[in-house]
Amino acid sequence: MAEFSNKTVVITGGGGVLGGELAKYIGGRGGRVAILDLKKESADKVADAINAAGGKAIGVEANVLEVESLKKAHEEVVKAFGPCEILINGAGGNHPKGTTSKEFFSREDLDAQDLISFFDLDPEGVSFVFNLNFLGTLLPTKEFARDMIDSGGVIINISSMNAFTPLTKIPAYSGAKAAVSNFTQWLAVHFSKVNIRVNALAPGFFLTEQNRALLTNKDGSLTNRGNTIISQTPLGRFGKPEDLNSTLSWLCAEDSAFITGVVVPIDGGFSAYSGV
Ligand SMILES: NC(=O)c1ccc[n+]([C@@H]2O[C@H](COP(=O)([O-])OP(=O)(O)OC[C@H]3O[C@@H](n4cnc5c(N)ncnc54)[C@H](O)[C@@H]3O)[C@@H](O)[C@H]2O)c1
Repeated sequence: MAEFSNKTVVITGGGGVLGGELAKYIGGRGGRVAILDLKKESADKVADAINAAGGKAIGVEANVLEVESLKKAHEEVVKAFGPCEILINGAGGNHPKGTTSKEFFSREDLDAQDLISFFDLDPEGVSFVFNLNFLGTLLPTKEFARDMIDSGGVIINISSMNAFTPLTKIPAYSGAKAAVSNFTQWLAVHFSKVNIRVNALAPGFFLTEQNRALLTNKDGSLTNRGNTIISQTPLGRFGKPEDLNSTLSWLCAEDSAFITGVVVPIDGGFSAYSGV
């Protein structure tokens, strides 16, 4: 419990599926949780659940891409709970405009109207994904890490499987998460003299509302992509949001004081398996 007990924890994207689960876990272990999200309603819903269970939480509207919005959110957090001691950068995601329709390019795709080939990728879609994942990690860190300079603190970024080896179809999201992993290492070094540790979780495949239709059919059976993922995951299942909790707890614990700059796969063995 000590890793969160009476600590002020800020979690961006805390109204989402994975962020929401992490926020509830922290709230149940004595942390004061500020749930920042673009969607205030989603943030409030998670905060309400934590408060109803006897924890301490607030929902705060914030856009991780807008400096002024983050400043305002920071003021709200300090007023309610005091300076930030643990920051979890959970806001992130992909966009269809940064995604190709097919895994492999064929010559005839150049003339096809009904698909997005590599040559159709929209620069705005690609920037959206890079900004949300990379800048959306860097800007909240700029805002909240100030609080940790004298007292020390912990920053947890959320990378992904695709940062180690890119996944087909999602060049922007894979590249942006590789940037998040790289930034995790860079920041760990940069902040090493002021006692701020920086690490990242790299979730494998977690079935969430965003990818459910891609991975499962209406009757619950797996799509081709879903089947491929499970066949490449030695533990033979998708992740459940609560699978992230133990790694979060370990990385935030005070006796993990010598661990900084690591990106931990939580993936059922996906990244260790060559498929043969
Ligand atoms: N679901 C997976 O399988 C998986 C795998 C690897 C990594 N991840 C990463 O985990 C994190 C959480 O993913 P999730 O599946 O819970 O997604 P989610 O869509 O459920 O949650 C993301 C949350 O971020 C919020 N958000 C979006 N843009 C924002 C902005 N500009 N400012 C503030 N908040 C914003 C959304 O409102 C949402 O509540 C993301 O970084 C995602 O890339 C997810």
